[in-house]
Amino acid sequence: MSNGSNLDFKGRVAIVTGAGGGLGRQHALALATRGAKVVVNDLGGARDGSGGSVSAAQAVVDEIKAAGGEAIANGASVTDFEAVQAMVKEAVDAWGRVDILVNNAGILRDKSFAKMDLADFRLVVDVHLMGAVNCTKAVWALMNEQKYGRIVMTTSSSGLYGNFGQSNYGAAKLALVGLMQTLSIEGAKNDIRVNCLAPTAATRMTEDLFPKEMLEAFRPEAVVPAMLVLAAQDAPNRTILCAGAGTFEAAHITLTQGAWLGIEADTPEQLAARLSEVTDREGEAVPQSGAAQGANEVAKGMANAKRG
Ligand SMILES: NC(=O)c1ccc[n+]([C@@H]2O[C@H](COP(=O)([O-])OP(=O)(O)OC[C@H]3O[C@@H](n4cnc5c(N)ncnc54)[C@H](O)[C@@H]3O)[C@@H](O)[C@H]2O)c1
Repeated sequence: MSNGSNLDFKGRVAIVTGAGGGLGRQHALALATRGAKVVVNDLGGARDGSGGSVSAAQAVVDEIKAAGGEAIANGASVTDFEAVQAMVKEAVDAWGRVDILVNNAGILRDKSFAKMDLADFRLVVDVHLMGAVNCTKAVWALMNEQKYGRIVMTTSSSGLYGNFGQSNYGAAKLALVGLMQTLSIEGAKNDIRVNCLAPTAATRMTEDLFPKEMLEAFRPEAVVPAMLVLAAQDAPNRTILCAGAGTFEAAHITLTQGAWLGIEADTPEQLAARLSEVTDREGEAVPQSGAAQGANEVAKGMANAKRG
């Protein structure tokens, strides 16, 4: 497998979901330009997830082929596990492996929580969270056998930090960070690296949010470098990379130093009195796992018990 330069994808096989337009299309084009064979998946529906046609994916495949690349169009909905499995089989039958999965497909059903229908909540969770779970599950055994895999989950600032009217979308997007946290641990022994991308770009998903003068700065191409770095052979593992308008940042789920208060009758009062100390960000860290955080709490408790 030729990978002279880290961001050379020659010989790699990639699946990009939701690649008929917007960010996914740019991801697929960039991977193909850099040598990857790409499955361009897209349901081809409207922004709210209604309808569907493979023509959006086919147009991107035509573009890749016209530029001398290799690509296959696939119209599966990421919510349909059997169709997703068939998509993975199609890639393996054609090219023998799947190295990269970019979980990018998504929809919006925005409304304030008070007005939101639970059906719209479930659908958004189904497409973003279960869609990524389905695609990841369909490549997971293969990537473990290959002892190689790069998976990018597309999260969002709406999940990381919240946005009015996006409780369904934000919950689904932060769930992908949770999925990444565990899969990056489980995949490490077989060189499967799992990361999150939090993009900001002017696409049909955000067309009503960006003022006209910002459209150029927020073109989807500006997000692509972050995807390429997360999909590369030298990718990090367990990183949340934010990208938009040429700016790149990392988001972390940190833990403060906190304070040991014991388990006493007046601990609630102690906690209320010392809340600013517990939440103080000086010296905060990112635990290596959930278990590491638990171990840290036990260690503090034991150290303080000894002292007492
Ligand atoms: N544009 C932004 O600023 C922004 C910000 C944060 C996160 N995101 C995320 O980036 C990803 C791409 O969004 P975009 O802005 O390019 O929007 P987009 O609407 O242009 O692209 C989403 C694509 O996913 C496809 N899709 C929807 N449901 C599908 C399904 N069930 N199966 C297969 N394909 C399906 C759509 O047909 C569409 O082509 C999404 O996950 C989105 O949530 C975008």
